[in-house]
Amino acid sequence: VDQKTVWIGTSWKMNKGPAEAIAAARALESFQPPEGIQSFVIPPFTSLRDVCSVLEDSALMVGAQNMHWEDSGAWTGEVSAPMIAECGASIVEIGHSERRQHFGETDWTVNRKVHAALRHGLRPLICIGDTSDEFDFGVSQETLARQTKIALHGVSQKDLGRVLIAYEPVWAIGLAGRPAEAPFVSEIHTKLRAVVRDMVAESGVRIPLLYGGSVSQANIRDYVALPDVDGVFVGRAAWEPADFMKLVGSVS
Ligand code: G3P
Repeated sequence: VDQKTVWIGTSWKMNKGPAEAIAAARALESFQPPEGIQSFVIPPFTSLRDVCSVLEDSALMVGAQNMHWEDSGAWTGEVSAPMIAECGASIVEIGHSERRQHFGETDWTVNRKVHAALRHGLRPLICIGDTSDEFDFGVSQETLARQTKIALHGVSQKDLGRVLIAYEPVWAIGLAGRPAEAPFVSEIHTKLRAVVRDMVAESGVRIPLLYGGSVSQANIRDYVALPDVDGVFVGRAAWEPADFMKLVGSVS
């Protein structure tokens, strides 16, 4: 790994109730990732505050899995950016494909959420990804460029410095998924880099581009070694704290 900061994080998705989440956070509390690696964990809302307080003085950042674009109001079941910030989280996942697929998230809602997150000092971790149909038709790149451009529309040069993007092919995520091959990820990320480079032209910031989808101990180094990959976003393979620390530790 050269000079770039490498981001390695996990979302626990809909796993770990408060007791289990606190135990996992305690197991991670004194973990020191190797130099140059920034790691993060994203618990479910029910334990966000507890996990934030356990990890307050640790090397890990904590995030939330979703948010609403309004700050408050009659939005039953939703959670807002100021609420997440008040819990002590610094990252918020926006537009994960499971939310786009099952909860009607669109590029438009992603854009509004990105603005709201930035307004409240959070780092949006914007998830983008092609479906298996889009992959088969050879239009992955078009989908990703569209999702990225809409997500970042209207974001100031200054705020772009706080954005993270995760490329997560829908066909690579979860039990039914197969990991994307490193050369494909490399090509996608290089093209994605060009899309974001156009958007950050003035500030010249490097937006971290993470890969996610069936990342494991067997393939993590292949992805991180790619020049335009700035880290990985891991699900299943990192849910156990010991596995998470092993994964992070193996990238140096
Ligand atoms: O958010 C990360 C995720 O979508 C990848 O999940 O289980 O395929 O590593 P997994």
